[in-house]
Amino acid sequence: MARDGQGLEVSNAGAEAIASLDFLRDEWLSFGNRLAEFVAAADKEASCVLLPVMAANLMLSMNSDDGREMAYKYLAHAKALAKGANAREQAWLATTEAWIEGNTDRCLKIHEDMANEWPRDLLGGKLGQLHAFNCGDAEALLRIGERLFAANQDNRYVNAMYAFGLEECNRIDEAEEIARAALEVDRRDPWAHHAVAHCLEARGRMVEGVAFLEAMSDTWEGCNSFMYTHNWWHLALFLIDLDRTDEALALFDERVWGVWKEFCEDQINAVSLLARLELRGVDVGGRWADVSHYLKPRLHEHFVPFLDLQYLHGLARAGEHSAVTEMLASLEDKAENAKPFDREAWADCAVPAAHGLAAYAKGDHAEAARLLGQAMPHLSKIGGSIAQRSLFGAIHLDALMKSGWNDAALKILQADDRERPTVPWTKRSLGDLYRRVGRMEQALAAEYQAERLSRQYARGRTT
Ligand SMILES: [Fe+2]
Repeated sequence: MARDGQGLEVSNAGAEAIASLDFLRDEWLSFGNRLAEFVAAADKEASCVLLPVMAANLMLSMNSDDGREMAYKYLAHAKALAKGANAREQAWLATTEAWIEGNTDRCLKIHEDMANEWPRDLLGGKLGQLHAFNCGDAEALLRIGERLFAANQDNRYVNAMYAFGLEECNRIDEAEEIARAALEVDRRDPWAHHAVAHCLEARGRMVEGVAFLEAMSDTWEGCNSFMYTHNWWHLALFLIDLDRTDEALALFDERVWGVWKEFCEDQINAVSLLARLELRGVDVGGRWADVSHYLKPRLHEHFVPFLDLQYLHGLARAGEHSAVTEMLASLEDKAENAKPFDREAWADCAVPAAHGLAAYAKGDHAEAARLLGQAMPHLSKIGGSIAQRSLFGAIHLDALMKSGWNDAALKILQADDRERPTVPWTKRSLGDLYRRVGRMEQALAAEYQAERLSRQYARGRTT
């Protein structure tokens, strides 16, 4: 039986099919923009089951109705080639079918089993991590990464896969060390850049973050739109926390929004960046209108709650009231019919959070604070990374501050400041809140620290 470049047995595969699978693995792990070449090969494949199976998974990773339609087509193609499929290939068929049907808990279980049984199957691990990410299961993200890392020391891409799992489990120092080790071998690994960015973000090391990502950014030109726009999005987050919001807005226009406006990942990077800029008082002009135009077809999709909440926020900020109302009703239906494993994500988090975001956009900050507060204890279940989900915490905090819930806001800001004591905005907000509650001495101290940090960052830019 033929074997792929990882030494895994592949049924009914000629040299071309093996070459296509090896190409796909490298292209997916390096976040390349040539995946269409693999899909073209899968379209023509007449014997090897894994090609259409992988094409189906690619389509499903688009998180769109069109993608799912295409995935059905590729799964049917795969089933027609399934005779003689080995155990690993049957596992791939099972997880693909489960994904199409929305049983992502089953997908994750199959991929975890695959990572144990065939840890050399790097795409099995990659997809498993994607399911863990979408289910908000950081421990599973790490377990799969760890297993792959142990079994593939000849492949530098596993470092970043392991590192991201470590980072999402708050093992920041180990994560940074492992991600940087990959870059010692070859600096062109956008997922390792991304893992380092998460570590620096978690620690509030913004100056280093900007320098690091800028130094690596020349290697992102051949990346797919997700990786390209997402790494620039991370750079924009550092700039925002350094009070360089004008530069972050320029990155929105030049890098983050405009590569592939129909793609969910580009859309949520755009929504999240505009939202964060607004939270810092930036006027983003007519940009919401453009973004929302591409969000309107998604009102009834409900692939991942974390995506839905960002779509809804974008629509609400654009003033698309009827679309928001329609999406809220659709989300409630989704929550009512959710499968037991993801009921918490949809019913306990997405629904109250979505209503909270809608209230926030209407200026009803007390209602927004109340509803988002209900959702917050369940937030990790909606999927996404810690850095991405922090947007909802930031909106909740803003609603609390605007509606005068000073004690609750203070608690959150103090925790933020303990975790990331380098952000001038946090100190300024603390100063404002301390003044409101009459704690003048602490207000003056926080304002002084904010000013000192701002000057330090300004000096750093001129030296
Ligand atoms: Fe990220």
